[in-house]
Amino acid sequence: MLEEILKAESPLTFERYMKLCLYHERYGYYARGPRLGRKGDYFTSPTVHRVFGAALAVQVLEIYERLGEPPDFKIVEAGAGEGYLALDLLTYLKKKDRLFPYTILEPFPALKSLQEETLKDFEPWVNWRSGPEELKPWVGVFIANELLDAFPVHLITKTPEGLQEIYVKVTEEGLEEETGALSEPEILSRVLPFALTWPEGYRTEVCTSLEPFYKELAKKLFKGAFIFIDYGFPRPDYYHPERSRGTLLAYYRHRPGENPYLRPGHQDLTAHVDFTYLRELGERYGLLNLGFTQQGPFLVSLGVERLLEEVSACDFRDREALKLLLLPEGLGHSHWVLVQGRGFDLHGPPLKGFTLSNRLRLL
Ligand SMILES: C[S@@+](CC[C@H](N)C(=O)[O-])C[C@H]1O[C@@H](n2cnc3c(N)ncnc32)[C@H](O)[C@@H]1O
Repeated sequence: MLEEILKAESPLTFERYMKLCLYHERYGYYARGPRLGRKGDYFTSPTVHRVFGAALAVQVLEIYERLGEPPDFKIVEAGAGEGYLALDLLTYLKKKDRLFPYTILEPFPALKSLQEETLKDFEPWVNWRSGPEELKPWVGVFIANELLDAFPVHLITKTPEGLQEIYVKVTEEGLEEETGALSEPEILSRVLPFALTWPEGYRTEVCTSLEPFYKELAKKLFKGAFIFIDYGFPRPDYYHPERSRGTLLAYYRHRPGENPYLRPGHQDLTAHVDFTYLRELGERYGLLNLGFTQQGPFLVSLGVERLLEEVSACDFRDREALKLLLLPEGLGHSHWVLVQGRGFDLHGPPLKGFTLSNRLRLL
């Protein structure tokens, strides 16, 4: 039982708690095979409409052309859920007679089986690896939609004694929080100088767990681009003094809640992404920041309205789905797109997805 494992490590950092709840190989939320997808009520852009994958395919094709159409070009995706984004991308590329090999990085056998089922028509084109350490050096594109919000985060709070980390303690009554010293020096460097403006009691999250994953991917990319799409903020917005309860959310049966200690291992835990952290990782590991904007303008720049006609009957339901992807009250403003690259001609125009808006300076 997960409770026993938590008890044996108590008190543990919130980051470790989140890691066990989501990724424990037997009892973690993802390892147990979550209810995702179009048939469930899990709500991400690829589950809203296939035009999202078609638009990304347009961006991938442009990247391929801008890199000089390398013969060994391939696509790598992580956090592929049930495989819908891969399906829609490959379907569109096939229509354009431009299929590329597609690798999914998937550590969980339960999710891999779901993806195999979704992608059975593309069988020879798709292969799986459990993580970036299994990749060979490659040329192409890495795509992650709503992957990074699932990486474990440290929880911190401002107290009269200064910044403290939140630890999870297992007691007779259940799970309790206690505060203690920051467990990693990087936490402090990430939130300074913003922490000086925070009121007492301010709580927020800091993700430091992404770096090994990013580093491994960057090491293996010979030439190409990373496309990250997620809900999040540039750092000054993330750590704004008014965002005093942070961004951590728990989802159970697809309803958001604020208590991460209910039903450990049975509810999804997520936190928004600090996109400035990704800019810094790009600089650290040799990728250039090529574009940053919200999902709405990104998709419109890629011609998503015309694409809707191409990939659907464009009836009332299709148009409603498109609105959900584009509008501020849907996913159009909450989700941001960051593209980072290596091997691009720096004198060229912006990538197609950033023709209407490029807000890199916010990072
Ligand atoms: C919120 S779901 C997103 C699913 C899908 N991308 C979508 O948009 O519908 C997050 C996914 O990230 C995966 N994930 C988390 N950490 C991962 C890692 N280190 N490597 C690969 N996948 C990971 C989880 O298994 C889960 O499938």
